[in-house]
Amino acid sequence: MNFTRPLCAVVVVGAAIGYVVASSIDASAGYAPIALSDEAAPVEDSMHEFMEYVFQPTYLRLKSTMAAAPADNKGWKALKSDSLILAESCNLLFGRKPDEHGDDWVKHAAASKSQGAALYKAAREKNFESATAAWKSMLDNCNGCHRQFESGKHILQP
Ligand code: HEC
Repeated sequence: MNFTRPLCAVVVVGAAIGYVVASSIDASAGYAPIALSDEAAPVEDSMHEFMEYVFQPTYLRLKSTMAAAPADNKGWKALKSDSLILAESCNLLFGRKPDEHGDDWVKHAAASKSQGAALYKAAREKNFESATAAWKSMLDNCNGCHRQFESGKHILQP
């Protein structure tokens, strides 16, 4: 039996509580991705590049698509595509949670994903009213993570 483990846990939890009380987010905290398997190893380790090349262009396309209800099937297709890309990309955030405040990270990612999924569903139903609500709500949750982990940088507007 290993009796040092519970003690370690107490020390770790104590240290974590101390950290939360005593300090704000460490901006240099890494978001090193965890691979589910060797085959599933991420292509890009850097969180910055990941957001810049996966999330940002998708967000910018969606912003222009969401400016008015799609006029034709091509428009709805663009909406379905980009909302699904963002929702599925949120799944890739779970493996990148930082050492500190990882639970909050997971909550922001899960909420962004579920609103991204709602946007995708509304696009499939060609319901622009629901799509607009989901789009705004998704961005609130994207921004929730940016507020906490990026000190309020990258506040995205619908
Ligand atoms: C769980 C946390 C988290 C969630 C959720 C999240 N982001 Fe980010 N995002 C980050 C972090 C961290 C950065 C800063 C990365 C860096 O520059 O190191 C960032 C940066 C960005 C940037 C700026 C990229 C740049 O190059 O300037 C954009 C745009 C962005 N995110 C879009 C989104 C969108 C859209 C969503 C929601 C669908 C989203 N993010 C959800 C953590 C998150």
